[in-house]
Amino acid sequence: MTADKPSKQADREQKRTRPKMTGEDALPGDPTREEMIARMIRVDQAGEYGAVRIYSGQLAVLGRSGSGEAIRAMAESEREHLERFDGLVAERRVRPTALQPVWHLAGYALGAATALMGERAAMACTVAVEEVIDEHYAGQADRLGDDEAELRETIERFRADELAHRDEALAHGAEAAPGYEILSAAVKAGSRLAIWLSTRI
Ligand SMILES: [Fe+2]
Ligand SMILES: [Fe+2]
Repeated sequence: MTADKPSKQADREQKRTRPKMTGEDALPGDPTREEMIARMIRVDQAGEYGAVRIYSGQLAVLGRSGSGEAIRAMAESEREHLERFDGLVAERRVRPTALQPVWHLAGYALGAATALMGERAAMACTVAVEEVIDEHYAGQADRLGDDEAELRETIERFRADELAHRDEALAHGAEAAPGYEILSAAVKAGSRLAIWLSTRI
């Protein structure tokens, strides 16, 4: 994605002889290691909460459609993700996002609105959200060190689940949704804004 990726990767190869520590690449003025981890857990709990709400909105409209079973399976997986991050919020005493009531409504509205546009639009919404989450989780896993191996492993596992949701949505004809490009760009922009806000607020 960026030009410095190969050199970063080479850098990582070299460092493999000693354990990587969370926040070791931090610059002056960056959040502390603890704050960085708290932010990650806060935004991930918010994101998984939003995902549960998106699928609830989709199921309200499409629960009995041909896509109903696939959406129910994805919703179940999001509930497991949320449960894990709810646990981490409690264990690590992280202040949860203050925006939960917003994601409660916005997630549901996004799911229901795209579902009302049709099964393929609902699937297009899923593809867009999961692509943003994939990047987001990959970035987090990259910043976590071996001192946070368990959290990193959780994030990598959830990331694989999100990619499976994306593939499932693509298999359900997401890209054939009318106005796919515009819909996808709008959902991605909204998802990135939600991530930015939930990291901080
Ligand atoms: Fe998830
Ligand atoms: Fe997902």
